[in-house]
Amino acid sequence: PLPVASLRAVAPFPVGAAVNINLLKTRAAYRQVMTTEYSSITAENAMKFGALHPSATTYNWTDADYLVDFAQQNNMRVHGHTLLWYNSLPGWVTNFQGDSMAWENLMRTHITTVVTHFRGKVASWDVVNEAIDDAGNLRTANVWRQHLGDRYIDRAFQYAAAADPAALLFYNDYGNEYSTTRRTGILNLVNALKSRGVPIHGIGLQMHTSSNISDARIAEAITTAAATGLKVHVAELDISMNPNRTATATFTEALAAAQKAKYKALTQTFKALPPAQRHGITTWNVADADTWKRTDCSCPEWPLPFDDNYQRKPAYDGIVEGLQ
Ligand code: G3I
Repeated sequence: PLPVASLRAVAPFPVGAAVNINLLKTRAAYRQVMTTEYSSITAENAMKFGALHPSATTYNWTDADYLVDFAQQNNMRVHGHTLLWYNSLPGWVTNFQGDSMAWENLMRTHITTVVTHFRGKVASWDVVNEAIDDAGNLRTANVWRQHLGDRYIDRAFQYAAAADPAALLFYNDYGNEYSTTRRTGILNLVNALKSRGVPIHGIGLQMHTSSNISDARIAEAITTAAATGLKVHVAELDISMNPNRTATATFTEALAAAQKAKYKALTQTFKALPPAQRHGITTWNVADADTWKRTDCSCPEWPLPFDDNYQRKPAYDGIVEGLQ
């Protein structure tokens, strides 16, 4: 590895990772990487609707508060994920019976309670996650839109802004780098929110990407998002090096070098944005050992900058080179 102290020591913008709270609590090497390397932190799951609000009348803050305390002790920014998503909802929400006023009350109460609880501690929020479908339209398989109409997004941002006027509010979605249809839908939505005066401050590009997406496509995703004038967050970065999900694949030196080059190119593009628009780069978890991608594909995967033993990979050096 290159002789740098940490990512946070060399990056001119926040560098973050999404974390699994159980691992943060129990695995020393995991915690060590988080405390030394990163200046921003996100909960991979602990701030989702079902985790925070498991029944209509109960909130469970334990894990999320643990993360916030950890962040404060280590001088890290907290980026909140996510207030409103069609996925990972508790049964009481998916089964909720009520008219549009009752649904509005449910949405408003959740957003207001959560943002108020973390006011002054969570610097920025993914207010709405993945509202756009593969055709570039508002997703129909989404209880929020089904019960509240297209403008639920506007109101979600307004409720969040009212609960914490200082929080930076993001729309977060995937696919800007691999689908121009998705990208157009996402940018049209964001521009429409802006033109209606909705308090939106940034775009989250999830960037669950892979070796078969060119650096040029990734750069296009970043620069077109920045062209909206909003802040840009590379919010869930991981780079799959086994996009065909080959069961027998191994992580060769050639793959490690190719991955390094992709991390470097992405970081260089991001660094070139106007400083005020750089919300940061967040990877989706820390080390290959814990990536959601292994579960998702049931195949070998090594998408992150740290290896199974929490050691720096060539991908890590790629980020550092991209920053220098
Ligand atoms: O915690 C329960 C456990 O008690 C239970 O026994 C087990 C059985 O299924 O499930 C555990 O919950 C799982 C949870 O991860 C924690 O491990 C859920 O089933 C599983 O669906 C959940 O997956 C998460 C997924 O979002 C859905 O919320 C992944 O960890 C997380 O990486 C993934 O993250 C998403 C972002 O939020 C949005 N963008 C895409 C990204 C990847 O899918």
